[in-house]
Amino acid sequence: MARILHIEDDPKSRLLVRKLLAVDGHEVVDATGGLEGIRLASDAPPDLVLVDINVPDLDGYEVTLRLRSIRGLDRTPIVAITAEGDRATSLAVGCDGFIEKPIDAKRFGKQIEKFIDGHREQADGSGEAQLRNASQRIVEHLESKVIALSDANARLEEMVRLRREFLRNLSHELATPMTPVVGYLKLLVSEELGPLSPIQRKALVAVDAATSRLRALVDTLLDVSSLETGRLHFYARDYDFAQVAKRAIEESRARFNDRQITLSVRRGSMPMPAVGDPDKLRRAIAHLLDNAAKFTPLGAEVSVSVGLSDDGHSYEVVVADAGPGVPAEHLAKILEPFYQVDGTVTRVHGGVGLGLAFVRRVAEAMGGQVTVRSPPTRAEFQSATGTEVTLTIHPRPFPVGGPREPA
Ligand SMILES: Nc1ncnc2c1ncn2[C@@H]1O[C@H](COP(=O)(O)OP(=O)(O)OP(=O)(O)O)[C@@H](O)[C@H]1O
Ligand SMILES: [Mg+2]
Repeated sequence: MARILHIEDDPKSRLLVRKLLAVDGHEVVDATGGLEGIRLASDAPPDLVLVDINVPDLDGYEVTLRLRSIRGLDRTPIVAITAEGDRATSLAVGCDGFIEKPIDAKRFGKQIEKFIDGHREQADGSGEAQLRNASQRIVEHLESKVIALSDANARLEEMVRLRREFLRNLSHELATPMTPVVGYLKLLVSEELGPLSPIQRKALVAVDAATSRLRALVDTLLDVSSLETGRLHFYARDYDFAQVAKRAIEESRARFNDRQITLSVRRGSMPMPAVGDPDKLRRAIAHLLDNAAKFTPLGAEVSVSVGLSDDGHSYEVVVADAGPGVPAEHLAKILEPFYQVDGTVTRVHGGVGLGLAFVRRVAEAMGGQVTVRSPPTRAEFQSATGTEVTLTIHPRPFPVGGPREPA
């Protein structure tokens, strides 16, 4: 029994070859394109390779040339099966044989047996010219691919620029009308524009709550946009890290209570002096708590720890939840703007996917980082089953004598 790699994009041909070779007890591994075939062959060298000349990405000649340059595959029998290719070129690039399509089902098994047993077809002497022609075609193919890739790259760069501008314009357009809305609401709720009936008050309180949410979203949009264009200003102000974390936790408490989630906080009593931007830090911590509250099931537990990092040089906040966790392949991506594990409109949880992008930029600007682990790895969070997010920042991220906010 031999292990045969079959590189072929047409499903019908794959099935036919598989059936014919199964009769003789051979194992067939399929690749639907040239690149996949090269990868499979280098991962586990087969006993024989069957390659269609007309496959997507790299054609059969290119695949053969490449396979011949891989150690361990230089002597593996390679047989071209094709309707369009020609024998002389196939042999010139390194194939050992050539089978014409359509496959003759009666003879196929015997033909393959011969190649497995070491049969090699002889080239007719026109190899040099064929090889030169094949090389020219490869260079032309490569040239058109490089041109296509450069075009695609230019289009992507343009899209990135447009996205950045769109984000900036959108956030400014949204922020401008927010100012009078928030201002007048405040005046109305405080009855400075006249007394309110109970029903009017109730309506305004609801509008106020919705406006606060809208405003938080616009703020995050503005922040992420400014961070992307490198225009977000970070203050260098004296603050206490523990106090800022405490405030963020207190402000989020109602959210946890609403969902009957027990919030267990571990915090030392020592002051944690730092220089940086406490307002952005507080909002970053609020985003972590918001995620924990959102993704943890009703009645479960969320743990927060505030303290010094293991190396003793940074301050950290760790939030561990009992939510669904984040699959490994999404861990790095969720720190990118707008990336959500469930991005469908039918998803259960709200949000636009900017929270962690904001947290990451704040952490990096303040000399630290964000790490997401799922499930949690720290000994003290072993009962948490979902996600553990660690935000670290440096107590003094800006150079001594750098810009400081006027007191
Ligand atoms: N604690 C968590 N548990 C499970 N999944 C999470 C958690 N935190 C983040 N994620 C995943 O990462 C994605 C991105 O999170 P992020 O906070 O950036 O955006 P969001 O919460 O979807 O929206 P926004 O924060 O802008 O309201 C989430 O949509 C979710 O898929
Ligand atoms: Mg979020």
